[in-house]
Amino acid sequence: MVWREICRLSELRENEMRRVDLEDAELLVVRIGDRVFVTDAWCTHQRSDLTLGILEGKRVRCALHQALFDLETGEVLEGPSGEPPSSIRPLRTYRVRVEGDVVLADL
Ligand code: FES
Repeated sequence: MVWREICRLSELRENEMRRVDLEDAELLVVRIGDRVFVTDAWCTHQRSDLTLGILEGKRVRCALHQALFDLETGEVLEGPSGEPPSSIRPLRTYRVRVEGDVVLADL
C-alpha cells in the first residue's frame, strides 16, 4: 500500500462521480460534504463503469443491473437484478487523506 496523489480537492464538485485513471488503477472518486471516497471504478458483477451509475447518498448504484455498493466499506447492499448481496464480491475501497488541496489514496 502506497499513498498516491489522486486529484485536487478543488477539482471535485460535491456529489459528482469522478473517474480518475492512473497508470495502474481506475478509480471512482466522490466528494460528499467534507469526505472524499475512493473505490475501484468497476462494478464487481460484470465490470460496468460505476461512474455511469447513480449516487444515492454514500452509496453507488450500478447502471447495468442495479447492484448497490456502500462507498465507505465497499459492502454490497443489494445484488444485481434482485440477486442476494452475497452473489457478488464487495467493491474495493481505499483509505483517503486530504492534505491542503491534494487528495491522496492508499493504493
Ligand atoms: S455490472 Fe454492475 S450490477 Fe451488473
